[in-house]
Amino acid sequence: MAVTAALDAKRLYRFFHAGDDEVLALRGVSLTVGAGEIVAVTGPSGSGKSTLLACLAGIDEPDGGQVRIGGEVMTRRPERRRAELRARSVGLLFQTDNLVSHLSLDDNLVVAQRLGGRLDPARRDTLVERLGLQSRRAARPDQLSGGEAVRAGLAVALANDPALVIADEPTGEVDGATERRILELLIDEAAAGRGVLLATHSQEVAGVADRVVALLDGEVVT
Ligand SMILES: Nc1ncnc2c1ncn2[C@@H]1O[C@H](COP(=O)(O)OP(=O)(O)OP(=O)(O)O)[C@@H](O)[C@H]1O
Ligand SMILES: [Mg+2]
Repeated sequence: MAVTAALDAKRLYRFFHAGDDEVLALRGVSLTVGAGEIVAVTGPSGSGKSTLLACLAGIDEPDGGQVRIGGEVMTRRPERRRAELRARSVGLLFQTDNLVSHLSLDDNLVVAQRLGGRLDPARRDTLVERLGLQSRRAARPDQLSGGEAVRAGLAVALANDPALVIADEPTGEVDGATERRILELLIDEAAAGRGVLLATHSQEVAGVADRVVALLDGEVVT
């Protein structure tokens, strides 16, 4: 029997309309991420990376195609169903706004775990320590630097031991040493059996991936 992929997306299409203009943001993108696999999505600005990640995570609904997370269909399900599946199985890091703004980092981690149905203080401690955020646990998002906010968002994404991690530019705003620290953590998370999907412009990030999927104008070119 075939092993169920952490993520399996088939022929995704997404069109945006603004007046008479139509943007073909995704044109038939297919993609899989296996358990324990790191896949990088690369491509120039505007090539469709963030649109793809939003469709994969069920934040956005593609105009065509199907997404399965751990074998369960995410597409064309009621918002509530998608949110449940996401809370249980997906750790998500966006380019901005990953944290609940009026809560401390610690409380954000607790909320993420609670939504996924499990509280695990040891896991929270490990993530905070590995991301160098020990002294910032009581800080609210507006009290964090850009790079700290990215790391805090990653800690929240991983708090619930998701089967699939989807991260948009996880090292977008950090220095070289922090980038290596984030990559080491993601490599260990993949080794623990999670599928990891990263959108990135960074050669370092693409370099740690098992596979690179290059997008251009909404299509896979490799
Ligand atoms: N809500 C929207 N309405 C209209 N057009 C959109 C919308 N979201 C994205 N687009 C367009 O779809 C295309 C793909 O955008 P997307 O954000 O996916 O690119 P990206 O590869 O993530 O770029 P970057 O590297 O700059 O983050 C772009 O042309 C963008 O302008
Ligand atoms: Mg983007």
